[in-house]
Amino acid sequence: MKSKGIGKSHAKIILIGEHSVVYGQPAIALPLPNVAEKVTILPRTDGHRLIHSSYFDGDLNGLPDKMHGVAKLIQTLVDHLDGNRDYWDLTIDSDLPAERGMGSSAATAIALVRAFFDYYQKPLDRQLLLRLAAVEEEITHRSPSGLDAATAASSSPLWFVRGKVGTPIPMHLQATMVIADTGIAGATREAVTAVHHLLEESPTKTHACLDQLGLLTRQAQSALQLNEVAKLGKILLAAHHELQRLQVSDQKLDQLVEVAMANGALGAKLTGGGRGGCMFALVKTSAQARHLAAALISAGARKTWLQPLR
Ligand code: PMV
Repeated sequence: MKSKGIGKSHAKIILIGEHSVVYGQPAIALPLPNVAEKVTILPRTDGHRLIHSSYFDGDLNGLPDKMHGVAKLIQTLVDHLDGNRDYWDLTIDSDLPAERGMGSSAATAIALVRAFFDYYQKPLDRQLLLRLAAVEEEITHRSPSGLDAATAASSSPLWFVRGKVGTPIPMHLQATMVIADTGIAGATREAVTAVHHLLEESPTKTHACLDQLGLLTRQAQSALQLNEVAKLGKILLAAHHELQRLQVSDQKLDQLVEVAMANGALGAKLTGGGRGGCMFALVKTSAQARHLAAALISAGARKTWLQPLR
């Protein structure tokens, strides 16, 4: 056992393909290394296992219901690594906002698994990492597609099809992403149900939207690879319009997309489940990104993040 265990991970963002991915179309998710999470484990000798985080500070046994997935994962890791006689302080430092479609629970799961394996100096391959992280995600999300954990553990963009492990895809893009939080918690489950109802009410129109999102995702993959930034911008905005047709956007997301387009963005869209949560815009330079971030804050965004895409 080491004197200190450290595990790191980061946020994810869905570039394109949310909602249509539920119906078998591909999605592309990007890691956001600038929005990071770190778990640190330090030994204690007094028989306590303490958790320190912005949501909870106290004994492992007192974790709130909301963190039941985390508690279950920690117990699974302790059993797996034969650590039932060990005591520690476990600190979770996270830059990720919860419930904003940035994969905060999956990032915590990945960082926890890595920290425990580092503490006990045991080798960890990607398959085992994702299998253990799923212990938490299955409790926190009703039916996780695995996209969040796969991207929180990946350093490359992922091409993701439901039911399959993601495939890393090449990206050669000179652009910066400006992400903005509406300040409203996203309502992924409600939005997914709304699309389901829409499919029953107007199947032809709704299938056409989902197919179009699939086509736009394929076009986005080729634009990513060929550094066609302007083209990618247009594809992203077109995807936002399809998501509006699916009724998963809202007034605030639409307003921030409009502000982005009026302030030099090449494209912008909501990301994740929608109905709150985050949007992002694409610009070419970091100076443009800073200008746009300020404009989004003036328009009421709670917080912004800049992520260069390379
Ligand atoms: O809100 P997020 O980041 O968890 O993304 C949800 C993505 C959906 O396609 C709407 C749902 C899903 O399970 O893929």
